[in-house]
Amino acid sequence: MFDPKKVKKDFPILSRKINGKPLVYLDNASTSQKPKSVINTISNYYENFNSNTHRGIHTMSEEATIAYENTREHVMKFINANLPKEIIFTRNTTEAINLVAYSWGEENIKSGDEIIVSAIEHHSNLVPWQELCRRKNATLKIIPIKKDLTLDLPAYEKMLSKKTKLVSITAMSNVLGYMPDLSKIIKAAHKVGALVLVDAAQSVAHLPTDVKKLDCDFLAFSSHKMLGPTGVGVLYGKYEILSDMNPFMFGGDMVKSVEQHKAYWNDLPWKFEAGTPNIADVIAFDAALTYLEKIGLENIHKHDQKLLKYAVAKFSKYEKHGVSLILPTYKSATFDSSQVSSILSFSIKGIHPHDIATIFNDEGVAIRSGYHCSQPLIEHLNLSSTARMSFYFYNTKADIDRAEIALKKTIKLFK
Ligand SMILES: Cc1ncc(COP(=O)(O)O)c(C=O)c1O
Repeated sequence: MFDPKKVKKDFPILSRKINGKPLVYLDNASTSQKPKSVINTISNYYENFNSNTHRGIHTMSEEATIAYENTREHVMKFINANLPKEIIFTRNTTEAINLVAYSWGEENIKSGDEIIVSAIEHHSNLVPWQELCRRKNATLKIIPIKKDLTLDLPAYEKMLSKKTKLVSITAMSNVLGYMPDLSKIIKAAHKVGALVLVDAAQSVAHLPTDVKKLDCDFLAFSSHKMLGPTGVGVLYGKYEILSDMNPFMFGGDMVKSVEQHKAYWNDLPWKFEAGTPNIADVIAFDAALTYLEKIGLENIHKHDQKLLKYAVAKFSKYEKHGVSLILPTYKSATFDSSQVSSILSFSIKGIHPHDIATIFNDEGVAIRSGYHCSQPLIEHLNLSSTARMSFYFYNTKADIDRAEIALKKTIKLFK
């Protein structure tokens, strides 16, 4: 097991001060911090072999191409995909989902078809499907959420029919930390012949991901939430499905040959990577994966669980002061942590979450407030927004103690 205190030293930003106090970074669900190895890889690329990929025969172009394609192989191994061709680099999770909504959706969704999402989706896994349904006169169905803030899976099973063409579901809610039973959801969808896209933007940084075991058809995630740079996302797709899909964007690199009035598409995965890609950041993403593997995803998950339980125990003591923990299966200090990971949303009666986040910031504690790009869920909870702490492996119990100090100060100031 790693020592979070030692690990912190690998992240230069974590030694900075905010408002004169050592930074406690609890906004990891928005984006993670980057270790020195990732930062160094970016400068090494620009200092030593900055070149365009796939185009040149000169040494540096070859080095850049090899490093870029190495990351693809690494991602393939990281999520246990079959082939590098199944890994497409995008800008982020949002673009990966839009790629499917356009390339697969335009060809495969017809009037009267149905797409299923859930009530806990990030806007990135909701709006592209709303738009596809609008363009195609298809119907978007939404798996409801139960009172205990878990998904109503019997209701989902009733929704499935021959009309269902796609189920697009999060592996981990960015508001609740809740992880739905994906294996059950995927098996049920496949029984009616529907494909399944998994939005793994949150989960992939916290738990081992195995696309073969899951048997999902697509999986989307972002490098920036898992120690890597911003501007790099991944779409995994099963080879046969990606092969049948049309390109998403058109131009250089995605073509094999071009005539004046017609073009012929490149092989996978380049068919989906039009134009010069984000070379430096893809290469640095490799260093992020190496770092995560060194720590171990199982170890990260165990650490997340410990921190979450510790935070719940601390924050639940303030329920009498109007603090509500927005946690699936939670009933005053007891909850089934097996379905939840690394995220604790909360509200305080009578205090706006932006005010909570401001006081926390005064104390050097970075948390998020707002509706976290999940407006329908927040409205379903009858809230206008929440405050959210999200943990990672470099956080410690001492960080949560600092958050508790900020909580006490907030309550004192506003009550
Ligand atoms: C569950 C989930 N899906 C999708 C996204 C979108 O990720 P990105 O902004 O990197 O495209 C996020 C970002 O917070 C997320 O938490």
